[in-house]
Amino acid sequence: MRLGILISGRGSNMAAIIEAVRSGKIPKSEVSIVISNNPQAKGLEKARAYGIETLVISHKGIKREEHEERIITELRKRKVDFVCLAGYMRLLSEGFIKAFPNRIVNIHPSLLPAFPGLNAQKQALEYGVKITGCTVHFVDEQLDHGPIILQRSVEVKEDDTEQTLSERILQQEHSAYVEALKLIADDRIRICGRRVILKN
Ligand code: GRF
Repeated sequence: MRLGILISGRGSNMAAIIEAVRSGKIPKSEVSIVISNNPQAKGLEKARAYGIETLVISHKGIKREEHEERIITELRKRKVDFVCLAGYMRLLSEGFIKAFPNRIVNIHPSLLPAFPGLNAQKQALEYGVKITGCTVHFVDEQLDHGPIILQRSVEVKEDDTEQTLSERILQQEHSAYVEALKLIADDRIRICGRRVILKN
């Protein structure tokens, strides 16, 4: 499985994926390229430190379709067959989804369908839920919406701030993302409508 990782910022999920590929936790895989739409993304330096090829493809001043075409072209050049969104802050249009059918995954810091979109941890705190968490899911045309591969729950403590809650969720994100990619690499996953079924 040749992975392409799309980022926009810090890249801690990206780093967790790279390390798991390196250590063999995600088997039969390699990270072929890391692409950021944001030239300032801290994750770019991290990826380079791992010796992974990086590219900046800025979305500024060009149409969404053109931006996505550029990314698809670079992914195809490297024969990427699976795309991981890891803090990639742009919605993908139908054309991109169709270029990698059921082959794009995302991680979101809430138990979807609760709190999609930006600042999910803040939304959870403000709503007053007692349990939140993270979700790894396939990507479809709607925001934070596609079939769910796995979820991890995190308790909300009374003295939590957005930061402390985000940190505890992030720890779960890293291992959840790795576990989901391992299931995919081991060909354990079948998608049945909205449901993701584990094969034995
Ligand atoms: C994570 O919380 C992820 O769930 C969300 O954006 C954040 C990215 O963090 N989609 P990082 O760049 O992986 O450190």
